[in-house]
Amino acid sequence: SGWFGGLRSPGEAAFIAGHRGDRTIAPENTMPALQAALDGPMGFVETDIQLTKDRVPVLMHDTWVDRTTNGEGRVGDLTLAQLQALDAGAWFSPEFAGTRVPTLESLLSALQASEAAGAGKKALLEFKGFWTTDEVRIVVDLIRQYAVARLVILSSFDPVTLQHVEEVDGTIPRAIITAKLPSDPVRLARLYGAIAIITSQAAVEADRWVVDRIHRAGLGIILYTLNTKERWSSALDLGVDGIITDRPDRLGTWMSAK
Ligand code: G3P
Ligand code: CA
Repeated sequence: SGWFGGLRSPGEAAFIAGHRGDRTIAPENTMPALQAALDGPMGFVETDIQLTKDRVPVLMHDTWVDRTTNGEGRVGDLTLAQLQALDAGAWFSPEFAGTRVPTLESLLSALQASEAAGAGKKALLEFKGFWTTDEVRIVVDLIRQYAVARLVILSSFDPVTLQHVEEVDGTIPRAIITAKLPSDPVRLARLYGAIAIITSQAAVEADRWVVDRIHRAGLGIILYTLNTKERWSSALDLGVDGIITDRPDRLGTWMSAK
């Protein structure tokens, strides 16, 4: 911790997190997409967590399975077995037919393996929706079981969900997501024990000094979801600590050429 919420030190480049993995080359939030982002230059992935009916954390963005699988219904109304019987790849391309909805556990296992191999990959995990303390505990227990607390940042649009994380285990870094910045974002982050704020580019551009204020408070700032060179360039000029992008590969190449 210390500088910029511990996300980077001064002079160090902003990190790049692949939004739902690398969703341009494989179906979003499936192991091939997540692994592609982990294998990229930054080894950093962003993904979304939901609970199945039988309370198993799985990785999917939408509340409904309809867009990204061949099934229908809510994630929370399906058991893990029902969910994993679905095809989560054919909608994207025939090459990925038969790809399954991954559990959080399979991602944590990949993180653990990367650390064992000396690579130290990272994940920005987003709790989708509103979670109770007991539900949050299921995720925290898995993070402990795989000993990857230093490799993850837990995030949510719901500050109460983040509060539950703090109650269960205050040592796991947390970031608060907000599309618009309140007048005092530092206060918001401190109130919920977040090390960083994840927000939109528009919010930061509307308040020229906000990045400085956040940094002077020892906190970090991450922007979502930036996909063009114009946006990347402006985000780096603003001095943000991390960029979430659908094109981690391109952004990585572009940044290393700068
Ligand atoms: O991390 C913030 C970003 O992922 C939130 O947007 O809808 O893609 O989960 P969404
Ligand atoms: Ca997300």
